[in-house]
Amino acid sequence: MTGGSNFLSNEEINQIRSSVDIVDVISGYIPLTPRGKNYFGVCPFHDDHSPSMSVSRDKQIFTCWSCGATGNVFKFIMDYENISFIDAVKVIADRAGIAISVKNFASSTKQEKYQDIYDIYALSQKFYQNNINTSLGIKAKDYLKERDIDSDVIKEFGIGLSLKEKESLTNFLIKKKYPIQTILKTGLVNQNSQGYYDMYYNRIMFPLCNLNGQVVAFSGRVYDTKDSSKYINSRESDIFKKGELLYNYHRAKDIARQDGKIIVMEGFMDVIRAYTVGIKNVVATMGTAVTKEQATLIKRMAKEVILVFDGDAAGAKATMSCSAELEKIGVTPKVVRLEKDMDPDEYIRAYGKEQFVQKIENPINIMDFKLSYLKDKKDLKNEAEYSTYIHQVLEELSKLEDTILVELTLSKLSEDSKIDIEILRDQLYALQQSQQPPSLVPAPKKQGKRITKYEIAQRNLLYYMVNSTEVIKIYNRRAIYLPTEKYRRLARKISDFYKRNHLIDVADLFTEVSHDATILQTLEEIVSLHLKENYLIEEIQDYIDTIYEYNVKFESEKLQEQIKKEVDSTHKAALAQRMIELRLLKEKEMER
Ligand code: GTP
Ligand code: MN
Repeated sequence: MTGGSNFLSNEEINQIRSSVDIVDVISGYIPLTPRGKNYFGVCPFHDDHSPSMSVSRDKQIFTCWSCGATGNVFKFIMDYENISFIDAVKVIADRAGIAISVKNFASSTKQEKYQDIYDIYALSQKFYQNNINTSLGIKAKDYLKERDIDSDVIKEFGIGLSLKEKESLTNFLIKKKYPIQTILKTGLVNQNSQGYYDMYYNRIMFPLCNLNGQVVAFSGRVYDTKDSSKYINSRESDIFKKGELLYNYHRAKDIARQDGKIIVMEGFMDVIRAYTVGIKNVVATMGTAVTKEQATLIKRMAKEVILVFDGDAAGAKATMSCSAELEKIGVTPKVVRLEKDMDPDEYIRAYGKEQFVQKIENPINIMDFKLSYLKDKKDLKNEAEYSTYIHQVLEELSKLEDTILVELTLSKLSEDSKIDIEILRDQLYALQQSQQPPSLVPAPKKQGKRITKYEIAQRNLLYYMVNSTEVIKIYNRRAIYLPTEKYRRLARKISDFYKRNHLIDVADLFTEVSHDATILQTLEEIVSLHLKENYLIEEIQDYIDTIYEYNVKFESEKLQEQIKKEVDSTHKAALAQRMIELRLLKEKEMER
């Protein structure tokens, strides 16, 4: 958005921003309660237990007192929905009823850079879907019918068919005049010594979508042949990273948020089944180990997370590892186990929707699941194995943030094992001390490094510049030079903003700096200072004096040293120039 001509201007973006009230928007996501001038809610960006996020109607920004998250309404939407800045602007524009042509939004960089690849995927999906509706698709449709997947479902999930012929998609795409290099990049077409050939043939094609619902990959299933791999996924590409998406995310996310509940399954076939019987707040991890990114997506969708993995041993193991990933980010999932090694698809087809819903509504807590998982295949009459079991349970408990669940499990364990609960508690405590898992340690805000009084002066001055035009005017009039580069850049940005708009608006300032990571980060740092609202002009004067003292004392010394050493004449001239600036500053200061 840095001046891209086909994108909206800053003025237009600011207009969109100010057409909504951040308090209304955020309260659509998390409950807010008024306290004093501000509104407070539980911060969705860290594992918050008390309402640490404040939302200011005056400033139209949010700030978390605990994790430091801050920004305007766009930033909130971006982080909450995991979408780009541009898409966040669109969400707000839609809400405010401001029409924006779609063309304006084609400029998100990734979108633009890989537009051809997105287009080829979209086109291929249509191609495959068309195949299944021709006479060549009869067998595939029969297979799907056999699995209770009718044409409505085929349509909803964009299911298609790759043909038996090895160059069918290849030829189709070449005819569409895409450069072969681009076609190869998608991974849908490969090359060998004989030429180009389709990656997929004779498989039922399930499109995999990114978080926005664009097709970015396929999973192809065998249906009338024997093949060693049941499914083949397209390889990772510029637009497809398997560990960054969840199957059905874009359809499920809003419903999950409304329900406050997200159901996580292993297979996308399970998701398709659940979705078609009307259980729509459901996503799939698609087999492999859940990544941190996927866990974060799950956490963002809903507070209550229910894992319904396959009923077999592999599903139990996957439940363990998925919950470990979720626990790392402070989520305590619940678990549903299905009998007879069934997967959700089989279970729903065998027992019907109602019985499945019953299961979902009565999940077991994660520790009960772990107790039975850890007991499994152990001979608990054997003392050594029993001891291993106890230690494993304590190990699991040490990862848990839910203290009530910890207590409940400890008393169960104590009852079971006849070991005094205090002994178990001591053991657990010792374990926690020795591990200090990262999620339990609050992120150090300033990494040990002491902040000098000069830095404090600059930060405090900036804080009041962000909040008061009076202070900006002082900064301009006195031509204050901030010695720390990041602070200096932000100060100049604020001053510049004021010159153009004749006011200061921190919410719009956030938008303006959003493309410059350093300034944005510095602004976030400053806003998160949470200094007292009102300042005394003497305090501002103190900050300026401190900064001035630094400039004169340290910088002119340093400059003189540098000028002596510098051999490059241009550099030397620049240093000399700075020396002159400093002298001028000094003189100005004397006049004051
Ligand atoms: P159906 O047998 O069609 O009912 O599939 P399922 O949903 O029961 O699949 P399963 O439980 O065997 O596997 C869960 C998920 O793992 C699937 O949705 C796939 O994403 C993935 N998966 C399974 N088998 C393979 C395979 O052979 N190759 C790859 N790449 N992924 C697979
Ligand atoms: Mn299955």
